[in-house]
Amino acid sequence: MSKDAFTLTSPDGKSTTLPVRKGTLGPDVVDIGQLYKEQGVFTYDPGFVATGSCKSDITFIDGDEGVLLYRGYPVEQLAAHSSFIEVAYLLLYGQLPTKAQLDAFDTSIRTHTMLNEGMLRFFNGFRYDAHPMAMLSAVVGSMSAYYHDTLDINDPGTHDIFTHRILAKLPTIAAAAHKLTSGQPFVYPRNDLNYTQNLLHMFFAVPAEPYQINEIAAQALDLLFILHADHEQNCSTSTVRMAGSSGANPYSAIAAGIAALWGPAHGGANEAVLRMLEEIGDTKNIPKFVARAKDKSDSFRLMGFGHRVYKNFDPRAKIIREMCHKVLAQMGRRTDTPMFDLALALEEVALKDDYFIEKNLYPNVDFYSGIIYKALGIPTSMFTVMFAIGRTVGWVAHWREMITDPNLRISRPRQLYTGPKNRDYVQLNKR
Ligand code: ACO
Repeated sequence: MSKDAFTLTSPDGKSTTLPVRKGTLGPDVVDIGQLYKEQGVFTYDPGFVATGSCKSDITFIDGDEGVLLYRGYPVEQLAAHSSFIEVAYLLLYGQLPTKAQLDAFDTSIRTHTMLNEGMLRFFNGFRYDAHPMAMLSAVVGSMSAYYHDTLDINDPGTHDIFTHRILAKLPTIAAAAHKLTSGQPFVYPRNDLNYTQNLLHMFFAVPAEPYQINEIAAQALDLLFILHADHEQNCSTSTVRMAGSSGANPYSAIAAGIAALWGPAHGGANEAVLRMLEEIGDTKNIPKFVARAKDKSDSFRLMGFGHRVYKNFDPRAKIIREMCHKVLAQMGRRTDTPMFDLALALEEVALKDDYFIEKNLYPNVDFYSGIIYKALGIPTSMFTVMFAIGRTVGWVAHWREMITDPNLRISRPRQLYTGPKNRDYVQLNKR
């Protein structure tokens, strides 16, 4: 075996050489593309635990070391010095922008924030208690009906208008969902405000009185969006790539990504964390819930703990934990934010527990984000929507990378079939 190839030998002695592909960082990968042709077998890896589905230049994660890089830049540096709009530019175009490039990008996003009035009327069709993630997915999917003609997936020249529209309109759609749920009138965007200020304005302004934007709230949201912006081939991003690989309209592919994000094992965990903390209610109940999380006969898990890739710590969780302190200190603790003290107490117990230590289960990005959202007055059902707003830029960056790859092929995994063998149809009266 050379370092550049693996040799796989079947039980009957037939050998196949599998080339090794090397990235710029991270483990090498074994290219099994010719395996079926040469050996007549597929590989089996449910949940894609050891399978790379594509090559990508966008984001790098080292789960053992707790490293997260966007286009090579450590997320800690971006969180400390950058803004969400600048990070969005970086993820999409591969480089940090010049001042002129950033201004032009920012202006373009600010001037695409309004929704077609017809799209706004969709919201009248939803029940007052519809989950905002369902509304977000449906309305983003419907953008494919509005903007089909201005997008040709084979013409990269049209990709920017899709990109700017979806980034600009996501907060407006999210705010419309929020206003429907809260029974308040829809508030139109203000293009003089930056991305997060505008989001707060559309969420919380009412016609009856002036609304003062809280700068700490805007900064906290900006930070959360940076930290959620991309995370390589996670479930929702892989969904966007898979849907998009057929040549589907990218607004629909993003709608599929939103649906995937909603699940509690993925982006839905931030909502689940808050509901779990509410259920725990008091520090005296923590041991009972930790015991339940360890009990294999109980389906309860500590939400916000564990990650498929991070087995040491989640670097995003560290940054958010600090922001939690800042938000709660500067905005004043509302009556419902002792939640944070409960979360800290739960974290302390879990991190000292052998079960969590042995299985490398640490707080992930979602453990603290919900506490910040709650302190900002964002309702629990909107938490995953906030995640989706930040992650959209990652989904779009991956879609653009995939669709312009000259070697793009439709995503089409194989399976291990375990159903019945061939059998003959039996007439209804003979069954
Ligand atoms: N609480 C209790 N036990 C857990 C937890 C948890 N939160 N997470 C994992 N485990 C246990 C599992 O029961 C399993 O035990 P076993 O080996 O004895 O069977 C072991 O740890 C490994 O867990 P898997 O589910 O096999 O790990 P996987 O990588 O497939 O799942 C996941 C990762 C989905 C994040 C999981 O840790 C989980 O469900 N966490 C809670 C939900 C959550 O916080 N999700 C957000 C993830 S971050 C994001 O998407 C933004």
